[in-house]
Amino acid sequence: MSADLIDGKAIAAALRESIAGAVSSLSASHGVKPALAVVLVGEDPASQVYVRNKGIATEKAGMTSIEHRLPADAAQDDVVALVRSLNADNDVDGILVQLPLPDHINSALVINEIDPSKDVDGLTEVNAGRLMLGKDGLVPCTPQGSVILAKTVRESLSGLHAVVVGRSILVGKPLAMLLLAENCTVTMAHSRTKDLAATCREADIVCAAVGRPRLIKGDWIKEGATVIDVGINRVEEGGKSRLVGDVDFDAAKARAGAITPVPGGVGPMTIACLLKNTVIAAARRRGLPVPEITVK
Ligand code: GUN
Repeated sequence: MSADLIDGKAIAAALRESIAGAVSSLSASHGVKPALAVVLVGEDPASQVYVRNKGIATEKAGMTSIEHRLPADAAQDDVVALVRSLNADNDVDGILVQLPLPDHINSALVINEIDPSKDVDGLTEVNAGRLMLGKDGLVPCTPQGSVILAKTVRESLSGLHAVVVGRSILVGKPLAMLLLAENCTVTMAHSRTKDLAATCREADIVCAAVGRPRLIKGDWIKEGATVIDVGINRVEEGGKSRLVGDVDFDAAKARAGAITPVPGGVGPMTIACLLKNTVIAAARRRGLPVPEITVK
């Protein structure tokens, strides 16, 4: 068996097209042009690339992109003051503070300063709580994108056993909540799980979000399972630098029913879902109906 590839790049492009349509309709019917503000503290090279890509994608979808850069030695109070000024700015619909922040800054404290109605990352306590309670809120982007991808190859996720490997606030925990909302039976596995191989072998859906290159081996995958690889790890091999996931792709592909590649799987979905959240925030903040956003 060789798995179907889940083409995150194409699916994200379709989603972005639908988002651009939603932006046009918000603009035509209500004169609203959503705006996303991104805060970058320091000069981490990967973060600079992510922030630049977010800005380009935001403008391409017809929205306003605002970028705020602070030096690596910015005081925590300065970052908090910037977030508060963006909260107060009525022209700003979404706020994203790029992570990781420098070590001297308390990330949880800064994130939680974001007005929950503008928290397009879905990371504030209010939005995390809403997700846990099954209430409408803003949902973290990477988990949201992961579920959309799984649903492109499975008519329904209901009743399936999903194993989420990794328990981060950004991905693992919210992803488990989303899968539970889809009526999956969810197992949360992590670095202290006693027999990770046996746990993964039980899964109809394996979601790998641990940040360890090729940790999940091919023979841990049940025949026909869906594999969603959230990991993006840079490795040096044969004198070359390349990106690999948390799953041993070549071996897993031989057993899985469908699998996301790295790159080109979950990665492109994160930005698309960020744009989607910005449209949702812009509509809800004004008491407007959220335009339909779909993946065909
Ligand atoms: N750094 C890596 N991924 C993310 C993300 O989804 N949101 C934020 N704010 N920072 C990140």
